[in-house]
Amino acid sequence: MKAFKPYEIKPGIIMKNRLVMAPMTTYSGNEDFTVSKAEIDYYRLRSKTLGMVITAATSINDSAQAFERQMSLKHDRYIPSMTTLAKTIKNEGALAVIQLHHGGRMNLPSLYNDPSMIVSASAIKAPRENLVTPKAMTVDEIKQTIDDFAMATKRAIQAGFDGVELHGANTYLLQQFFSPHSNRREDEYGGTVKKRMRFIEELIDSVHEVIKTSHNKDFILGYRFSPEELEEPGITVEDTIQLVGMLKNKPLDYLHISLKHYRQGPSRKDALKTPIIDVIQNTLNHEIPMIGVGGISTKENIADALENGYEMISIGLAILADPLWGKHVETGIVKREFDAKTMPKHLYERLWKNREYFTRDGYNFKS
Ligand SMILES: Cc1cc2nc3c(=O)[nH]c(=O)nc-3n(C[C@H](O)[C@H](O)[C@H](O)COP(=O)(O)O)c2cc1C
Repeated sequence: MKAFKPYEIKPGIIMKNRLVMAPMTTYSGNEDFTVSKAEIDYYRLRSKTLGMVITAATSINDSAQAFERQMSLKHDRYIPSMTTLAKTIKNEGALAVIQLHHGGRMNLPSLYNDPSMIVSASAIKAPRENLVTPKAMTVDEIKQTIDDFAMATKRAIQAGFDGVELHGANTYLLQQFFSPHSNRREDEYGGTVKKRMRFIEELIDSVHEVIKTSHNKDFILGYRFSPEELEEPGITVEDTIQLVGMLKNKPLDYLHISLKHYRQGPSRKDALKTPIIDVIQNTLNHEIPMIGVGGISTKENIADALENGYEMISIGLAILADPLWGKHVETGIVKREFDAKTMPKHLYERLWKNREYFTRDGYNFKS
């Protein structure tokens, strides 16, 4: 089956198979946001059977942190810790890609002494409990944030990663600029869909410039996005088609969609019921490799995804439950139990706290 055979993600860069560990926040860094020993052990174990591992969302500056104990690359002092992480993943034979992140208006207020550190495209609160109204970023702050992503990319290269993934999904800052809910700006960064994409465009260009000047032509640049939002107004699949049209012309090595199910149709009222990936591929036409995600746990799911819209697949819960999933899935005998012994304590506690949600697809907790 082609899923388990080597895949050339970009010329000369071979993944040992088409299986990718989905980025997952571990809530388990050290107090100073360096990578903890528990995280290193967790990644070492899970890198053995996969072609690529994408790290947890990693903060790029002082106002980017969204979660407790989130790992960071916001300063040169984080390079040694990230070097250890990159080496750990690569030593097991997987490509090591770091996900770069800014939480914007989704940041937990309890993480900030100064509430004005919580910023977004506009001063519109996310429709969630326990969050605050963010401060609208000035144009200078936008440019600075883009620069901070670029600097984090430079550090990722220094730390020995094979690539970066820009986290444009799951309601965080990049998505907040694209969304008509969180972006009500009337300047060059808001208004039309084209203007709402400007931040993302400038960000990709600036990160690519860093990669180009590093002369590391093998370095991978990926972009993750959520194709839809339920808010009103919110991102529609039609908006996303325009986004994908723009991304297609950027120097990206892969796109990574974020979906609950890899073949789901749009969720918004009145939307067409065709699977979102089919609509996207009408525009993308496989010109950039696409990673599919959401509810993939069996060999049949993998085959179906690779036949229907995706070049690679990423897995979240399946690899949390079975650290050697990439091997076990071939035989069909996989573990579906979250085991505290194989993951950092705070990640396990988070799964346990939300157990109703995380056991919905037949996953259990090892007692
Ligand atoms: C504990 C946990 C943490 C997550 N953290 C991130 C993250 O840091 N960045 C991200 O893009 N997605 C994150 N996700 C979403 C996953 O990458 C993935 O899209 C989602 O789990 C669906 O895939 P699955 O059905 O295989 O679990 C997280 C998911 C889980 C379960």
